Amino acid sequence: MSLVVAGHETTSNLILNGVLALSRNPDQWERLKADPSLAKTGVEEILRYDAMAQALARLATEDFVYNGHQIRAGEKVTLILAAGNHDPSVFEQPEQLNLARENNPHLSFGHGIHYCAGSALARMEGRIIFETIARRLPNMQVIEQELTYNPTMVVRELKQLMVRVQ
Ligand code: HEM
Repeated sequence: MSLVVAGHETTSNLILNGVLALSRNPDQWERLKADPSLAKTGVEEILRYDAMAQALARLATEDFVYNGHQIRAGEKVTLILAAGNHDPSVFEQPEQLNLARENNPHLSFGHGIHYCAGSALARMEGRIIFETIARRLPNMQVIEQELTYNPTMVVRELKQLMVRVQ
């Protein structure tokens, strides 16, 4: 069950977030259409730019101090992956979508022993999806609409995204 849920919703959201990001950054959409092989680094950038898993929760197993904050064993800690993905000390111009970004150590698949077990599959799916969209749907346009996200802080999930394809 975990594999089915973890592997389905995530990829759907990757597509939605990616299509939206490309529509808001027409220069990058044009770049991808001119060279669909850019989808390889592009999927990493889309994962970084608008992570579908925005946050993870952890339970501290021991007392520790982080950045001047005392955390006690047993306390819940929320890690905002999306903030780490926009950390200016790690990423050059973090607010810019750059499909050719080379050094991209994003946190969108988590970290450590629970690192996403499906990351290789998700990367391959993402690359094929964005490559194919660029090749086969060059006229795709996101329709003017009100965007509604599901009300959860953890998953960045659009309820729907309507596009026009000619
Ligand atoms: C864009 C696609 C995906 C994203 C962004 C994503 C993200 C994540 C993240 C952030 C975690 C870490 C959870 C944690 O540490 O608590 C995770 C774990 C996991 N993911 Fe993914 N995932 C994606 C696709 C997939 C796919 C396609 C599969 C399987 C077919 C999958 C299976 C899993 C499983 C089984 C875990 C749990 C690993 C463990 O606890 O050891 N994921 N994923």
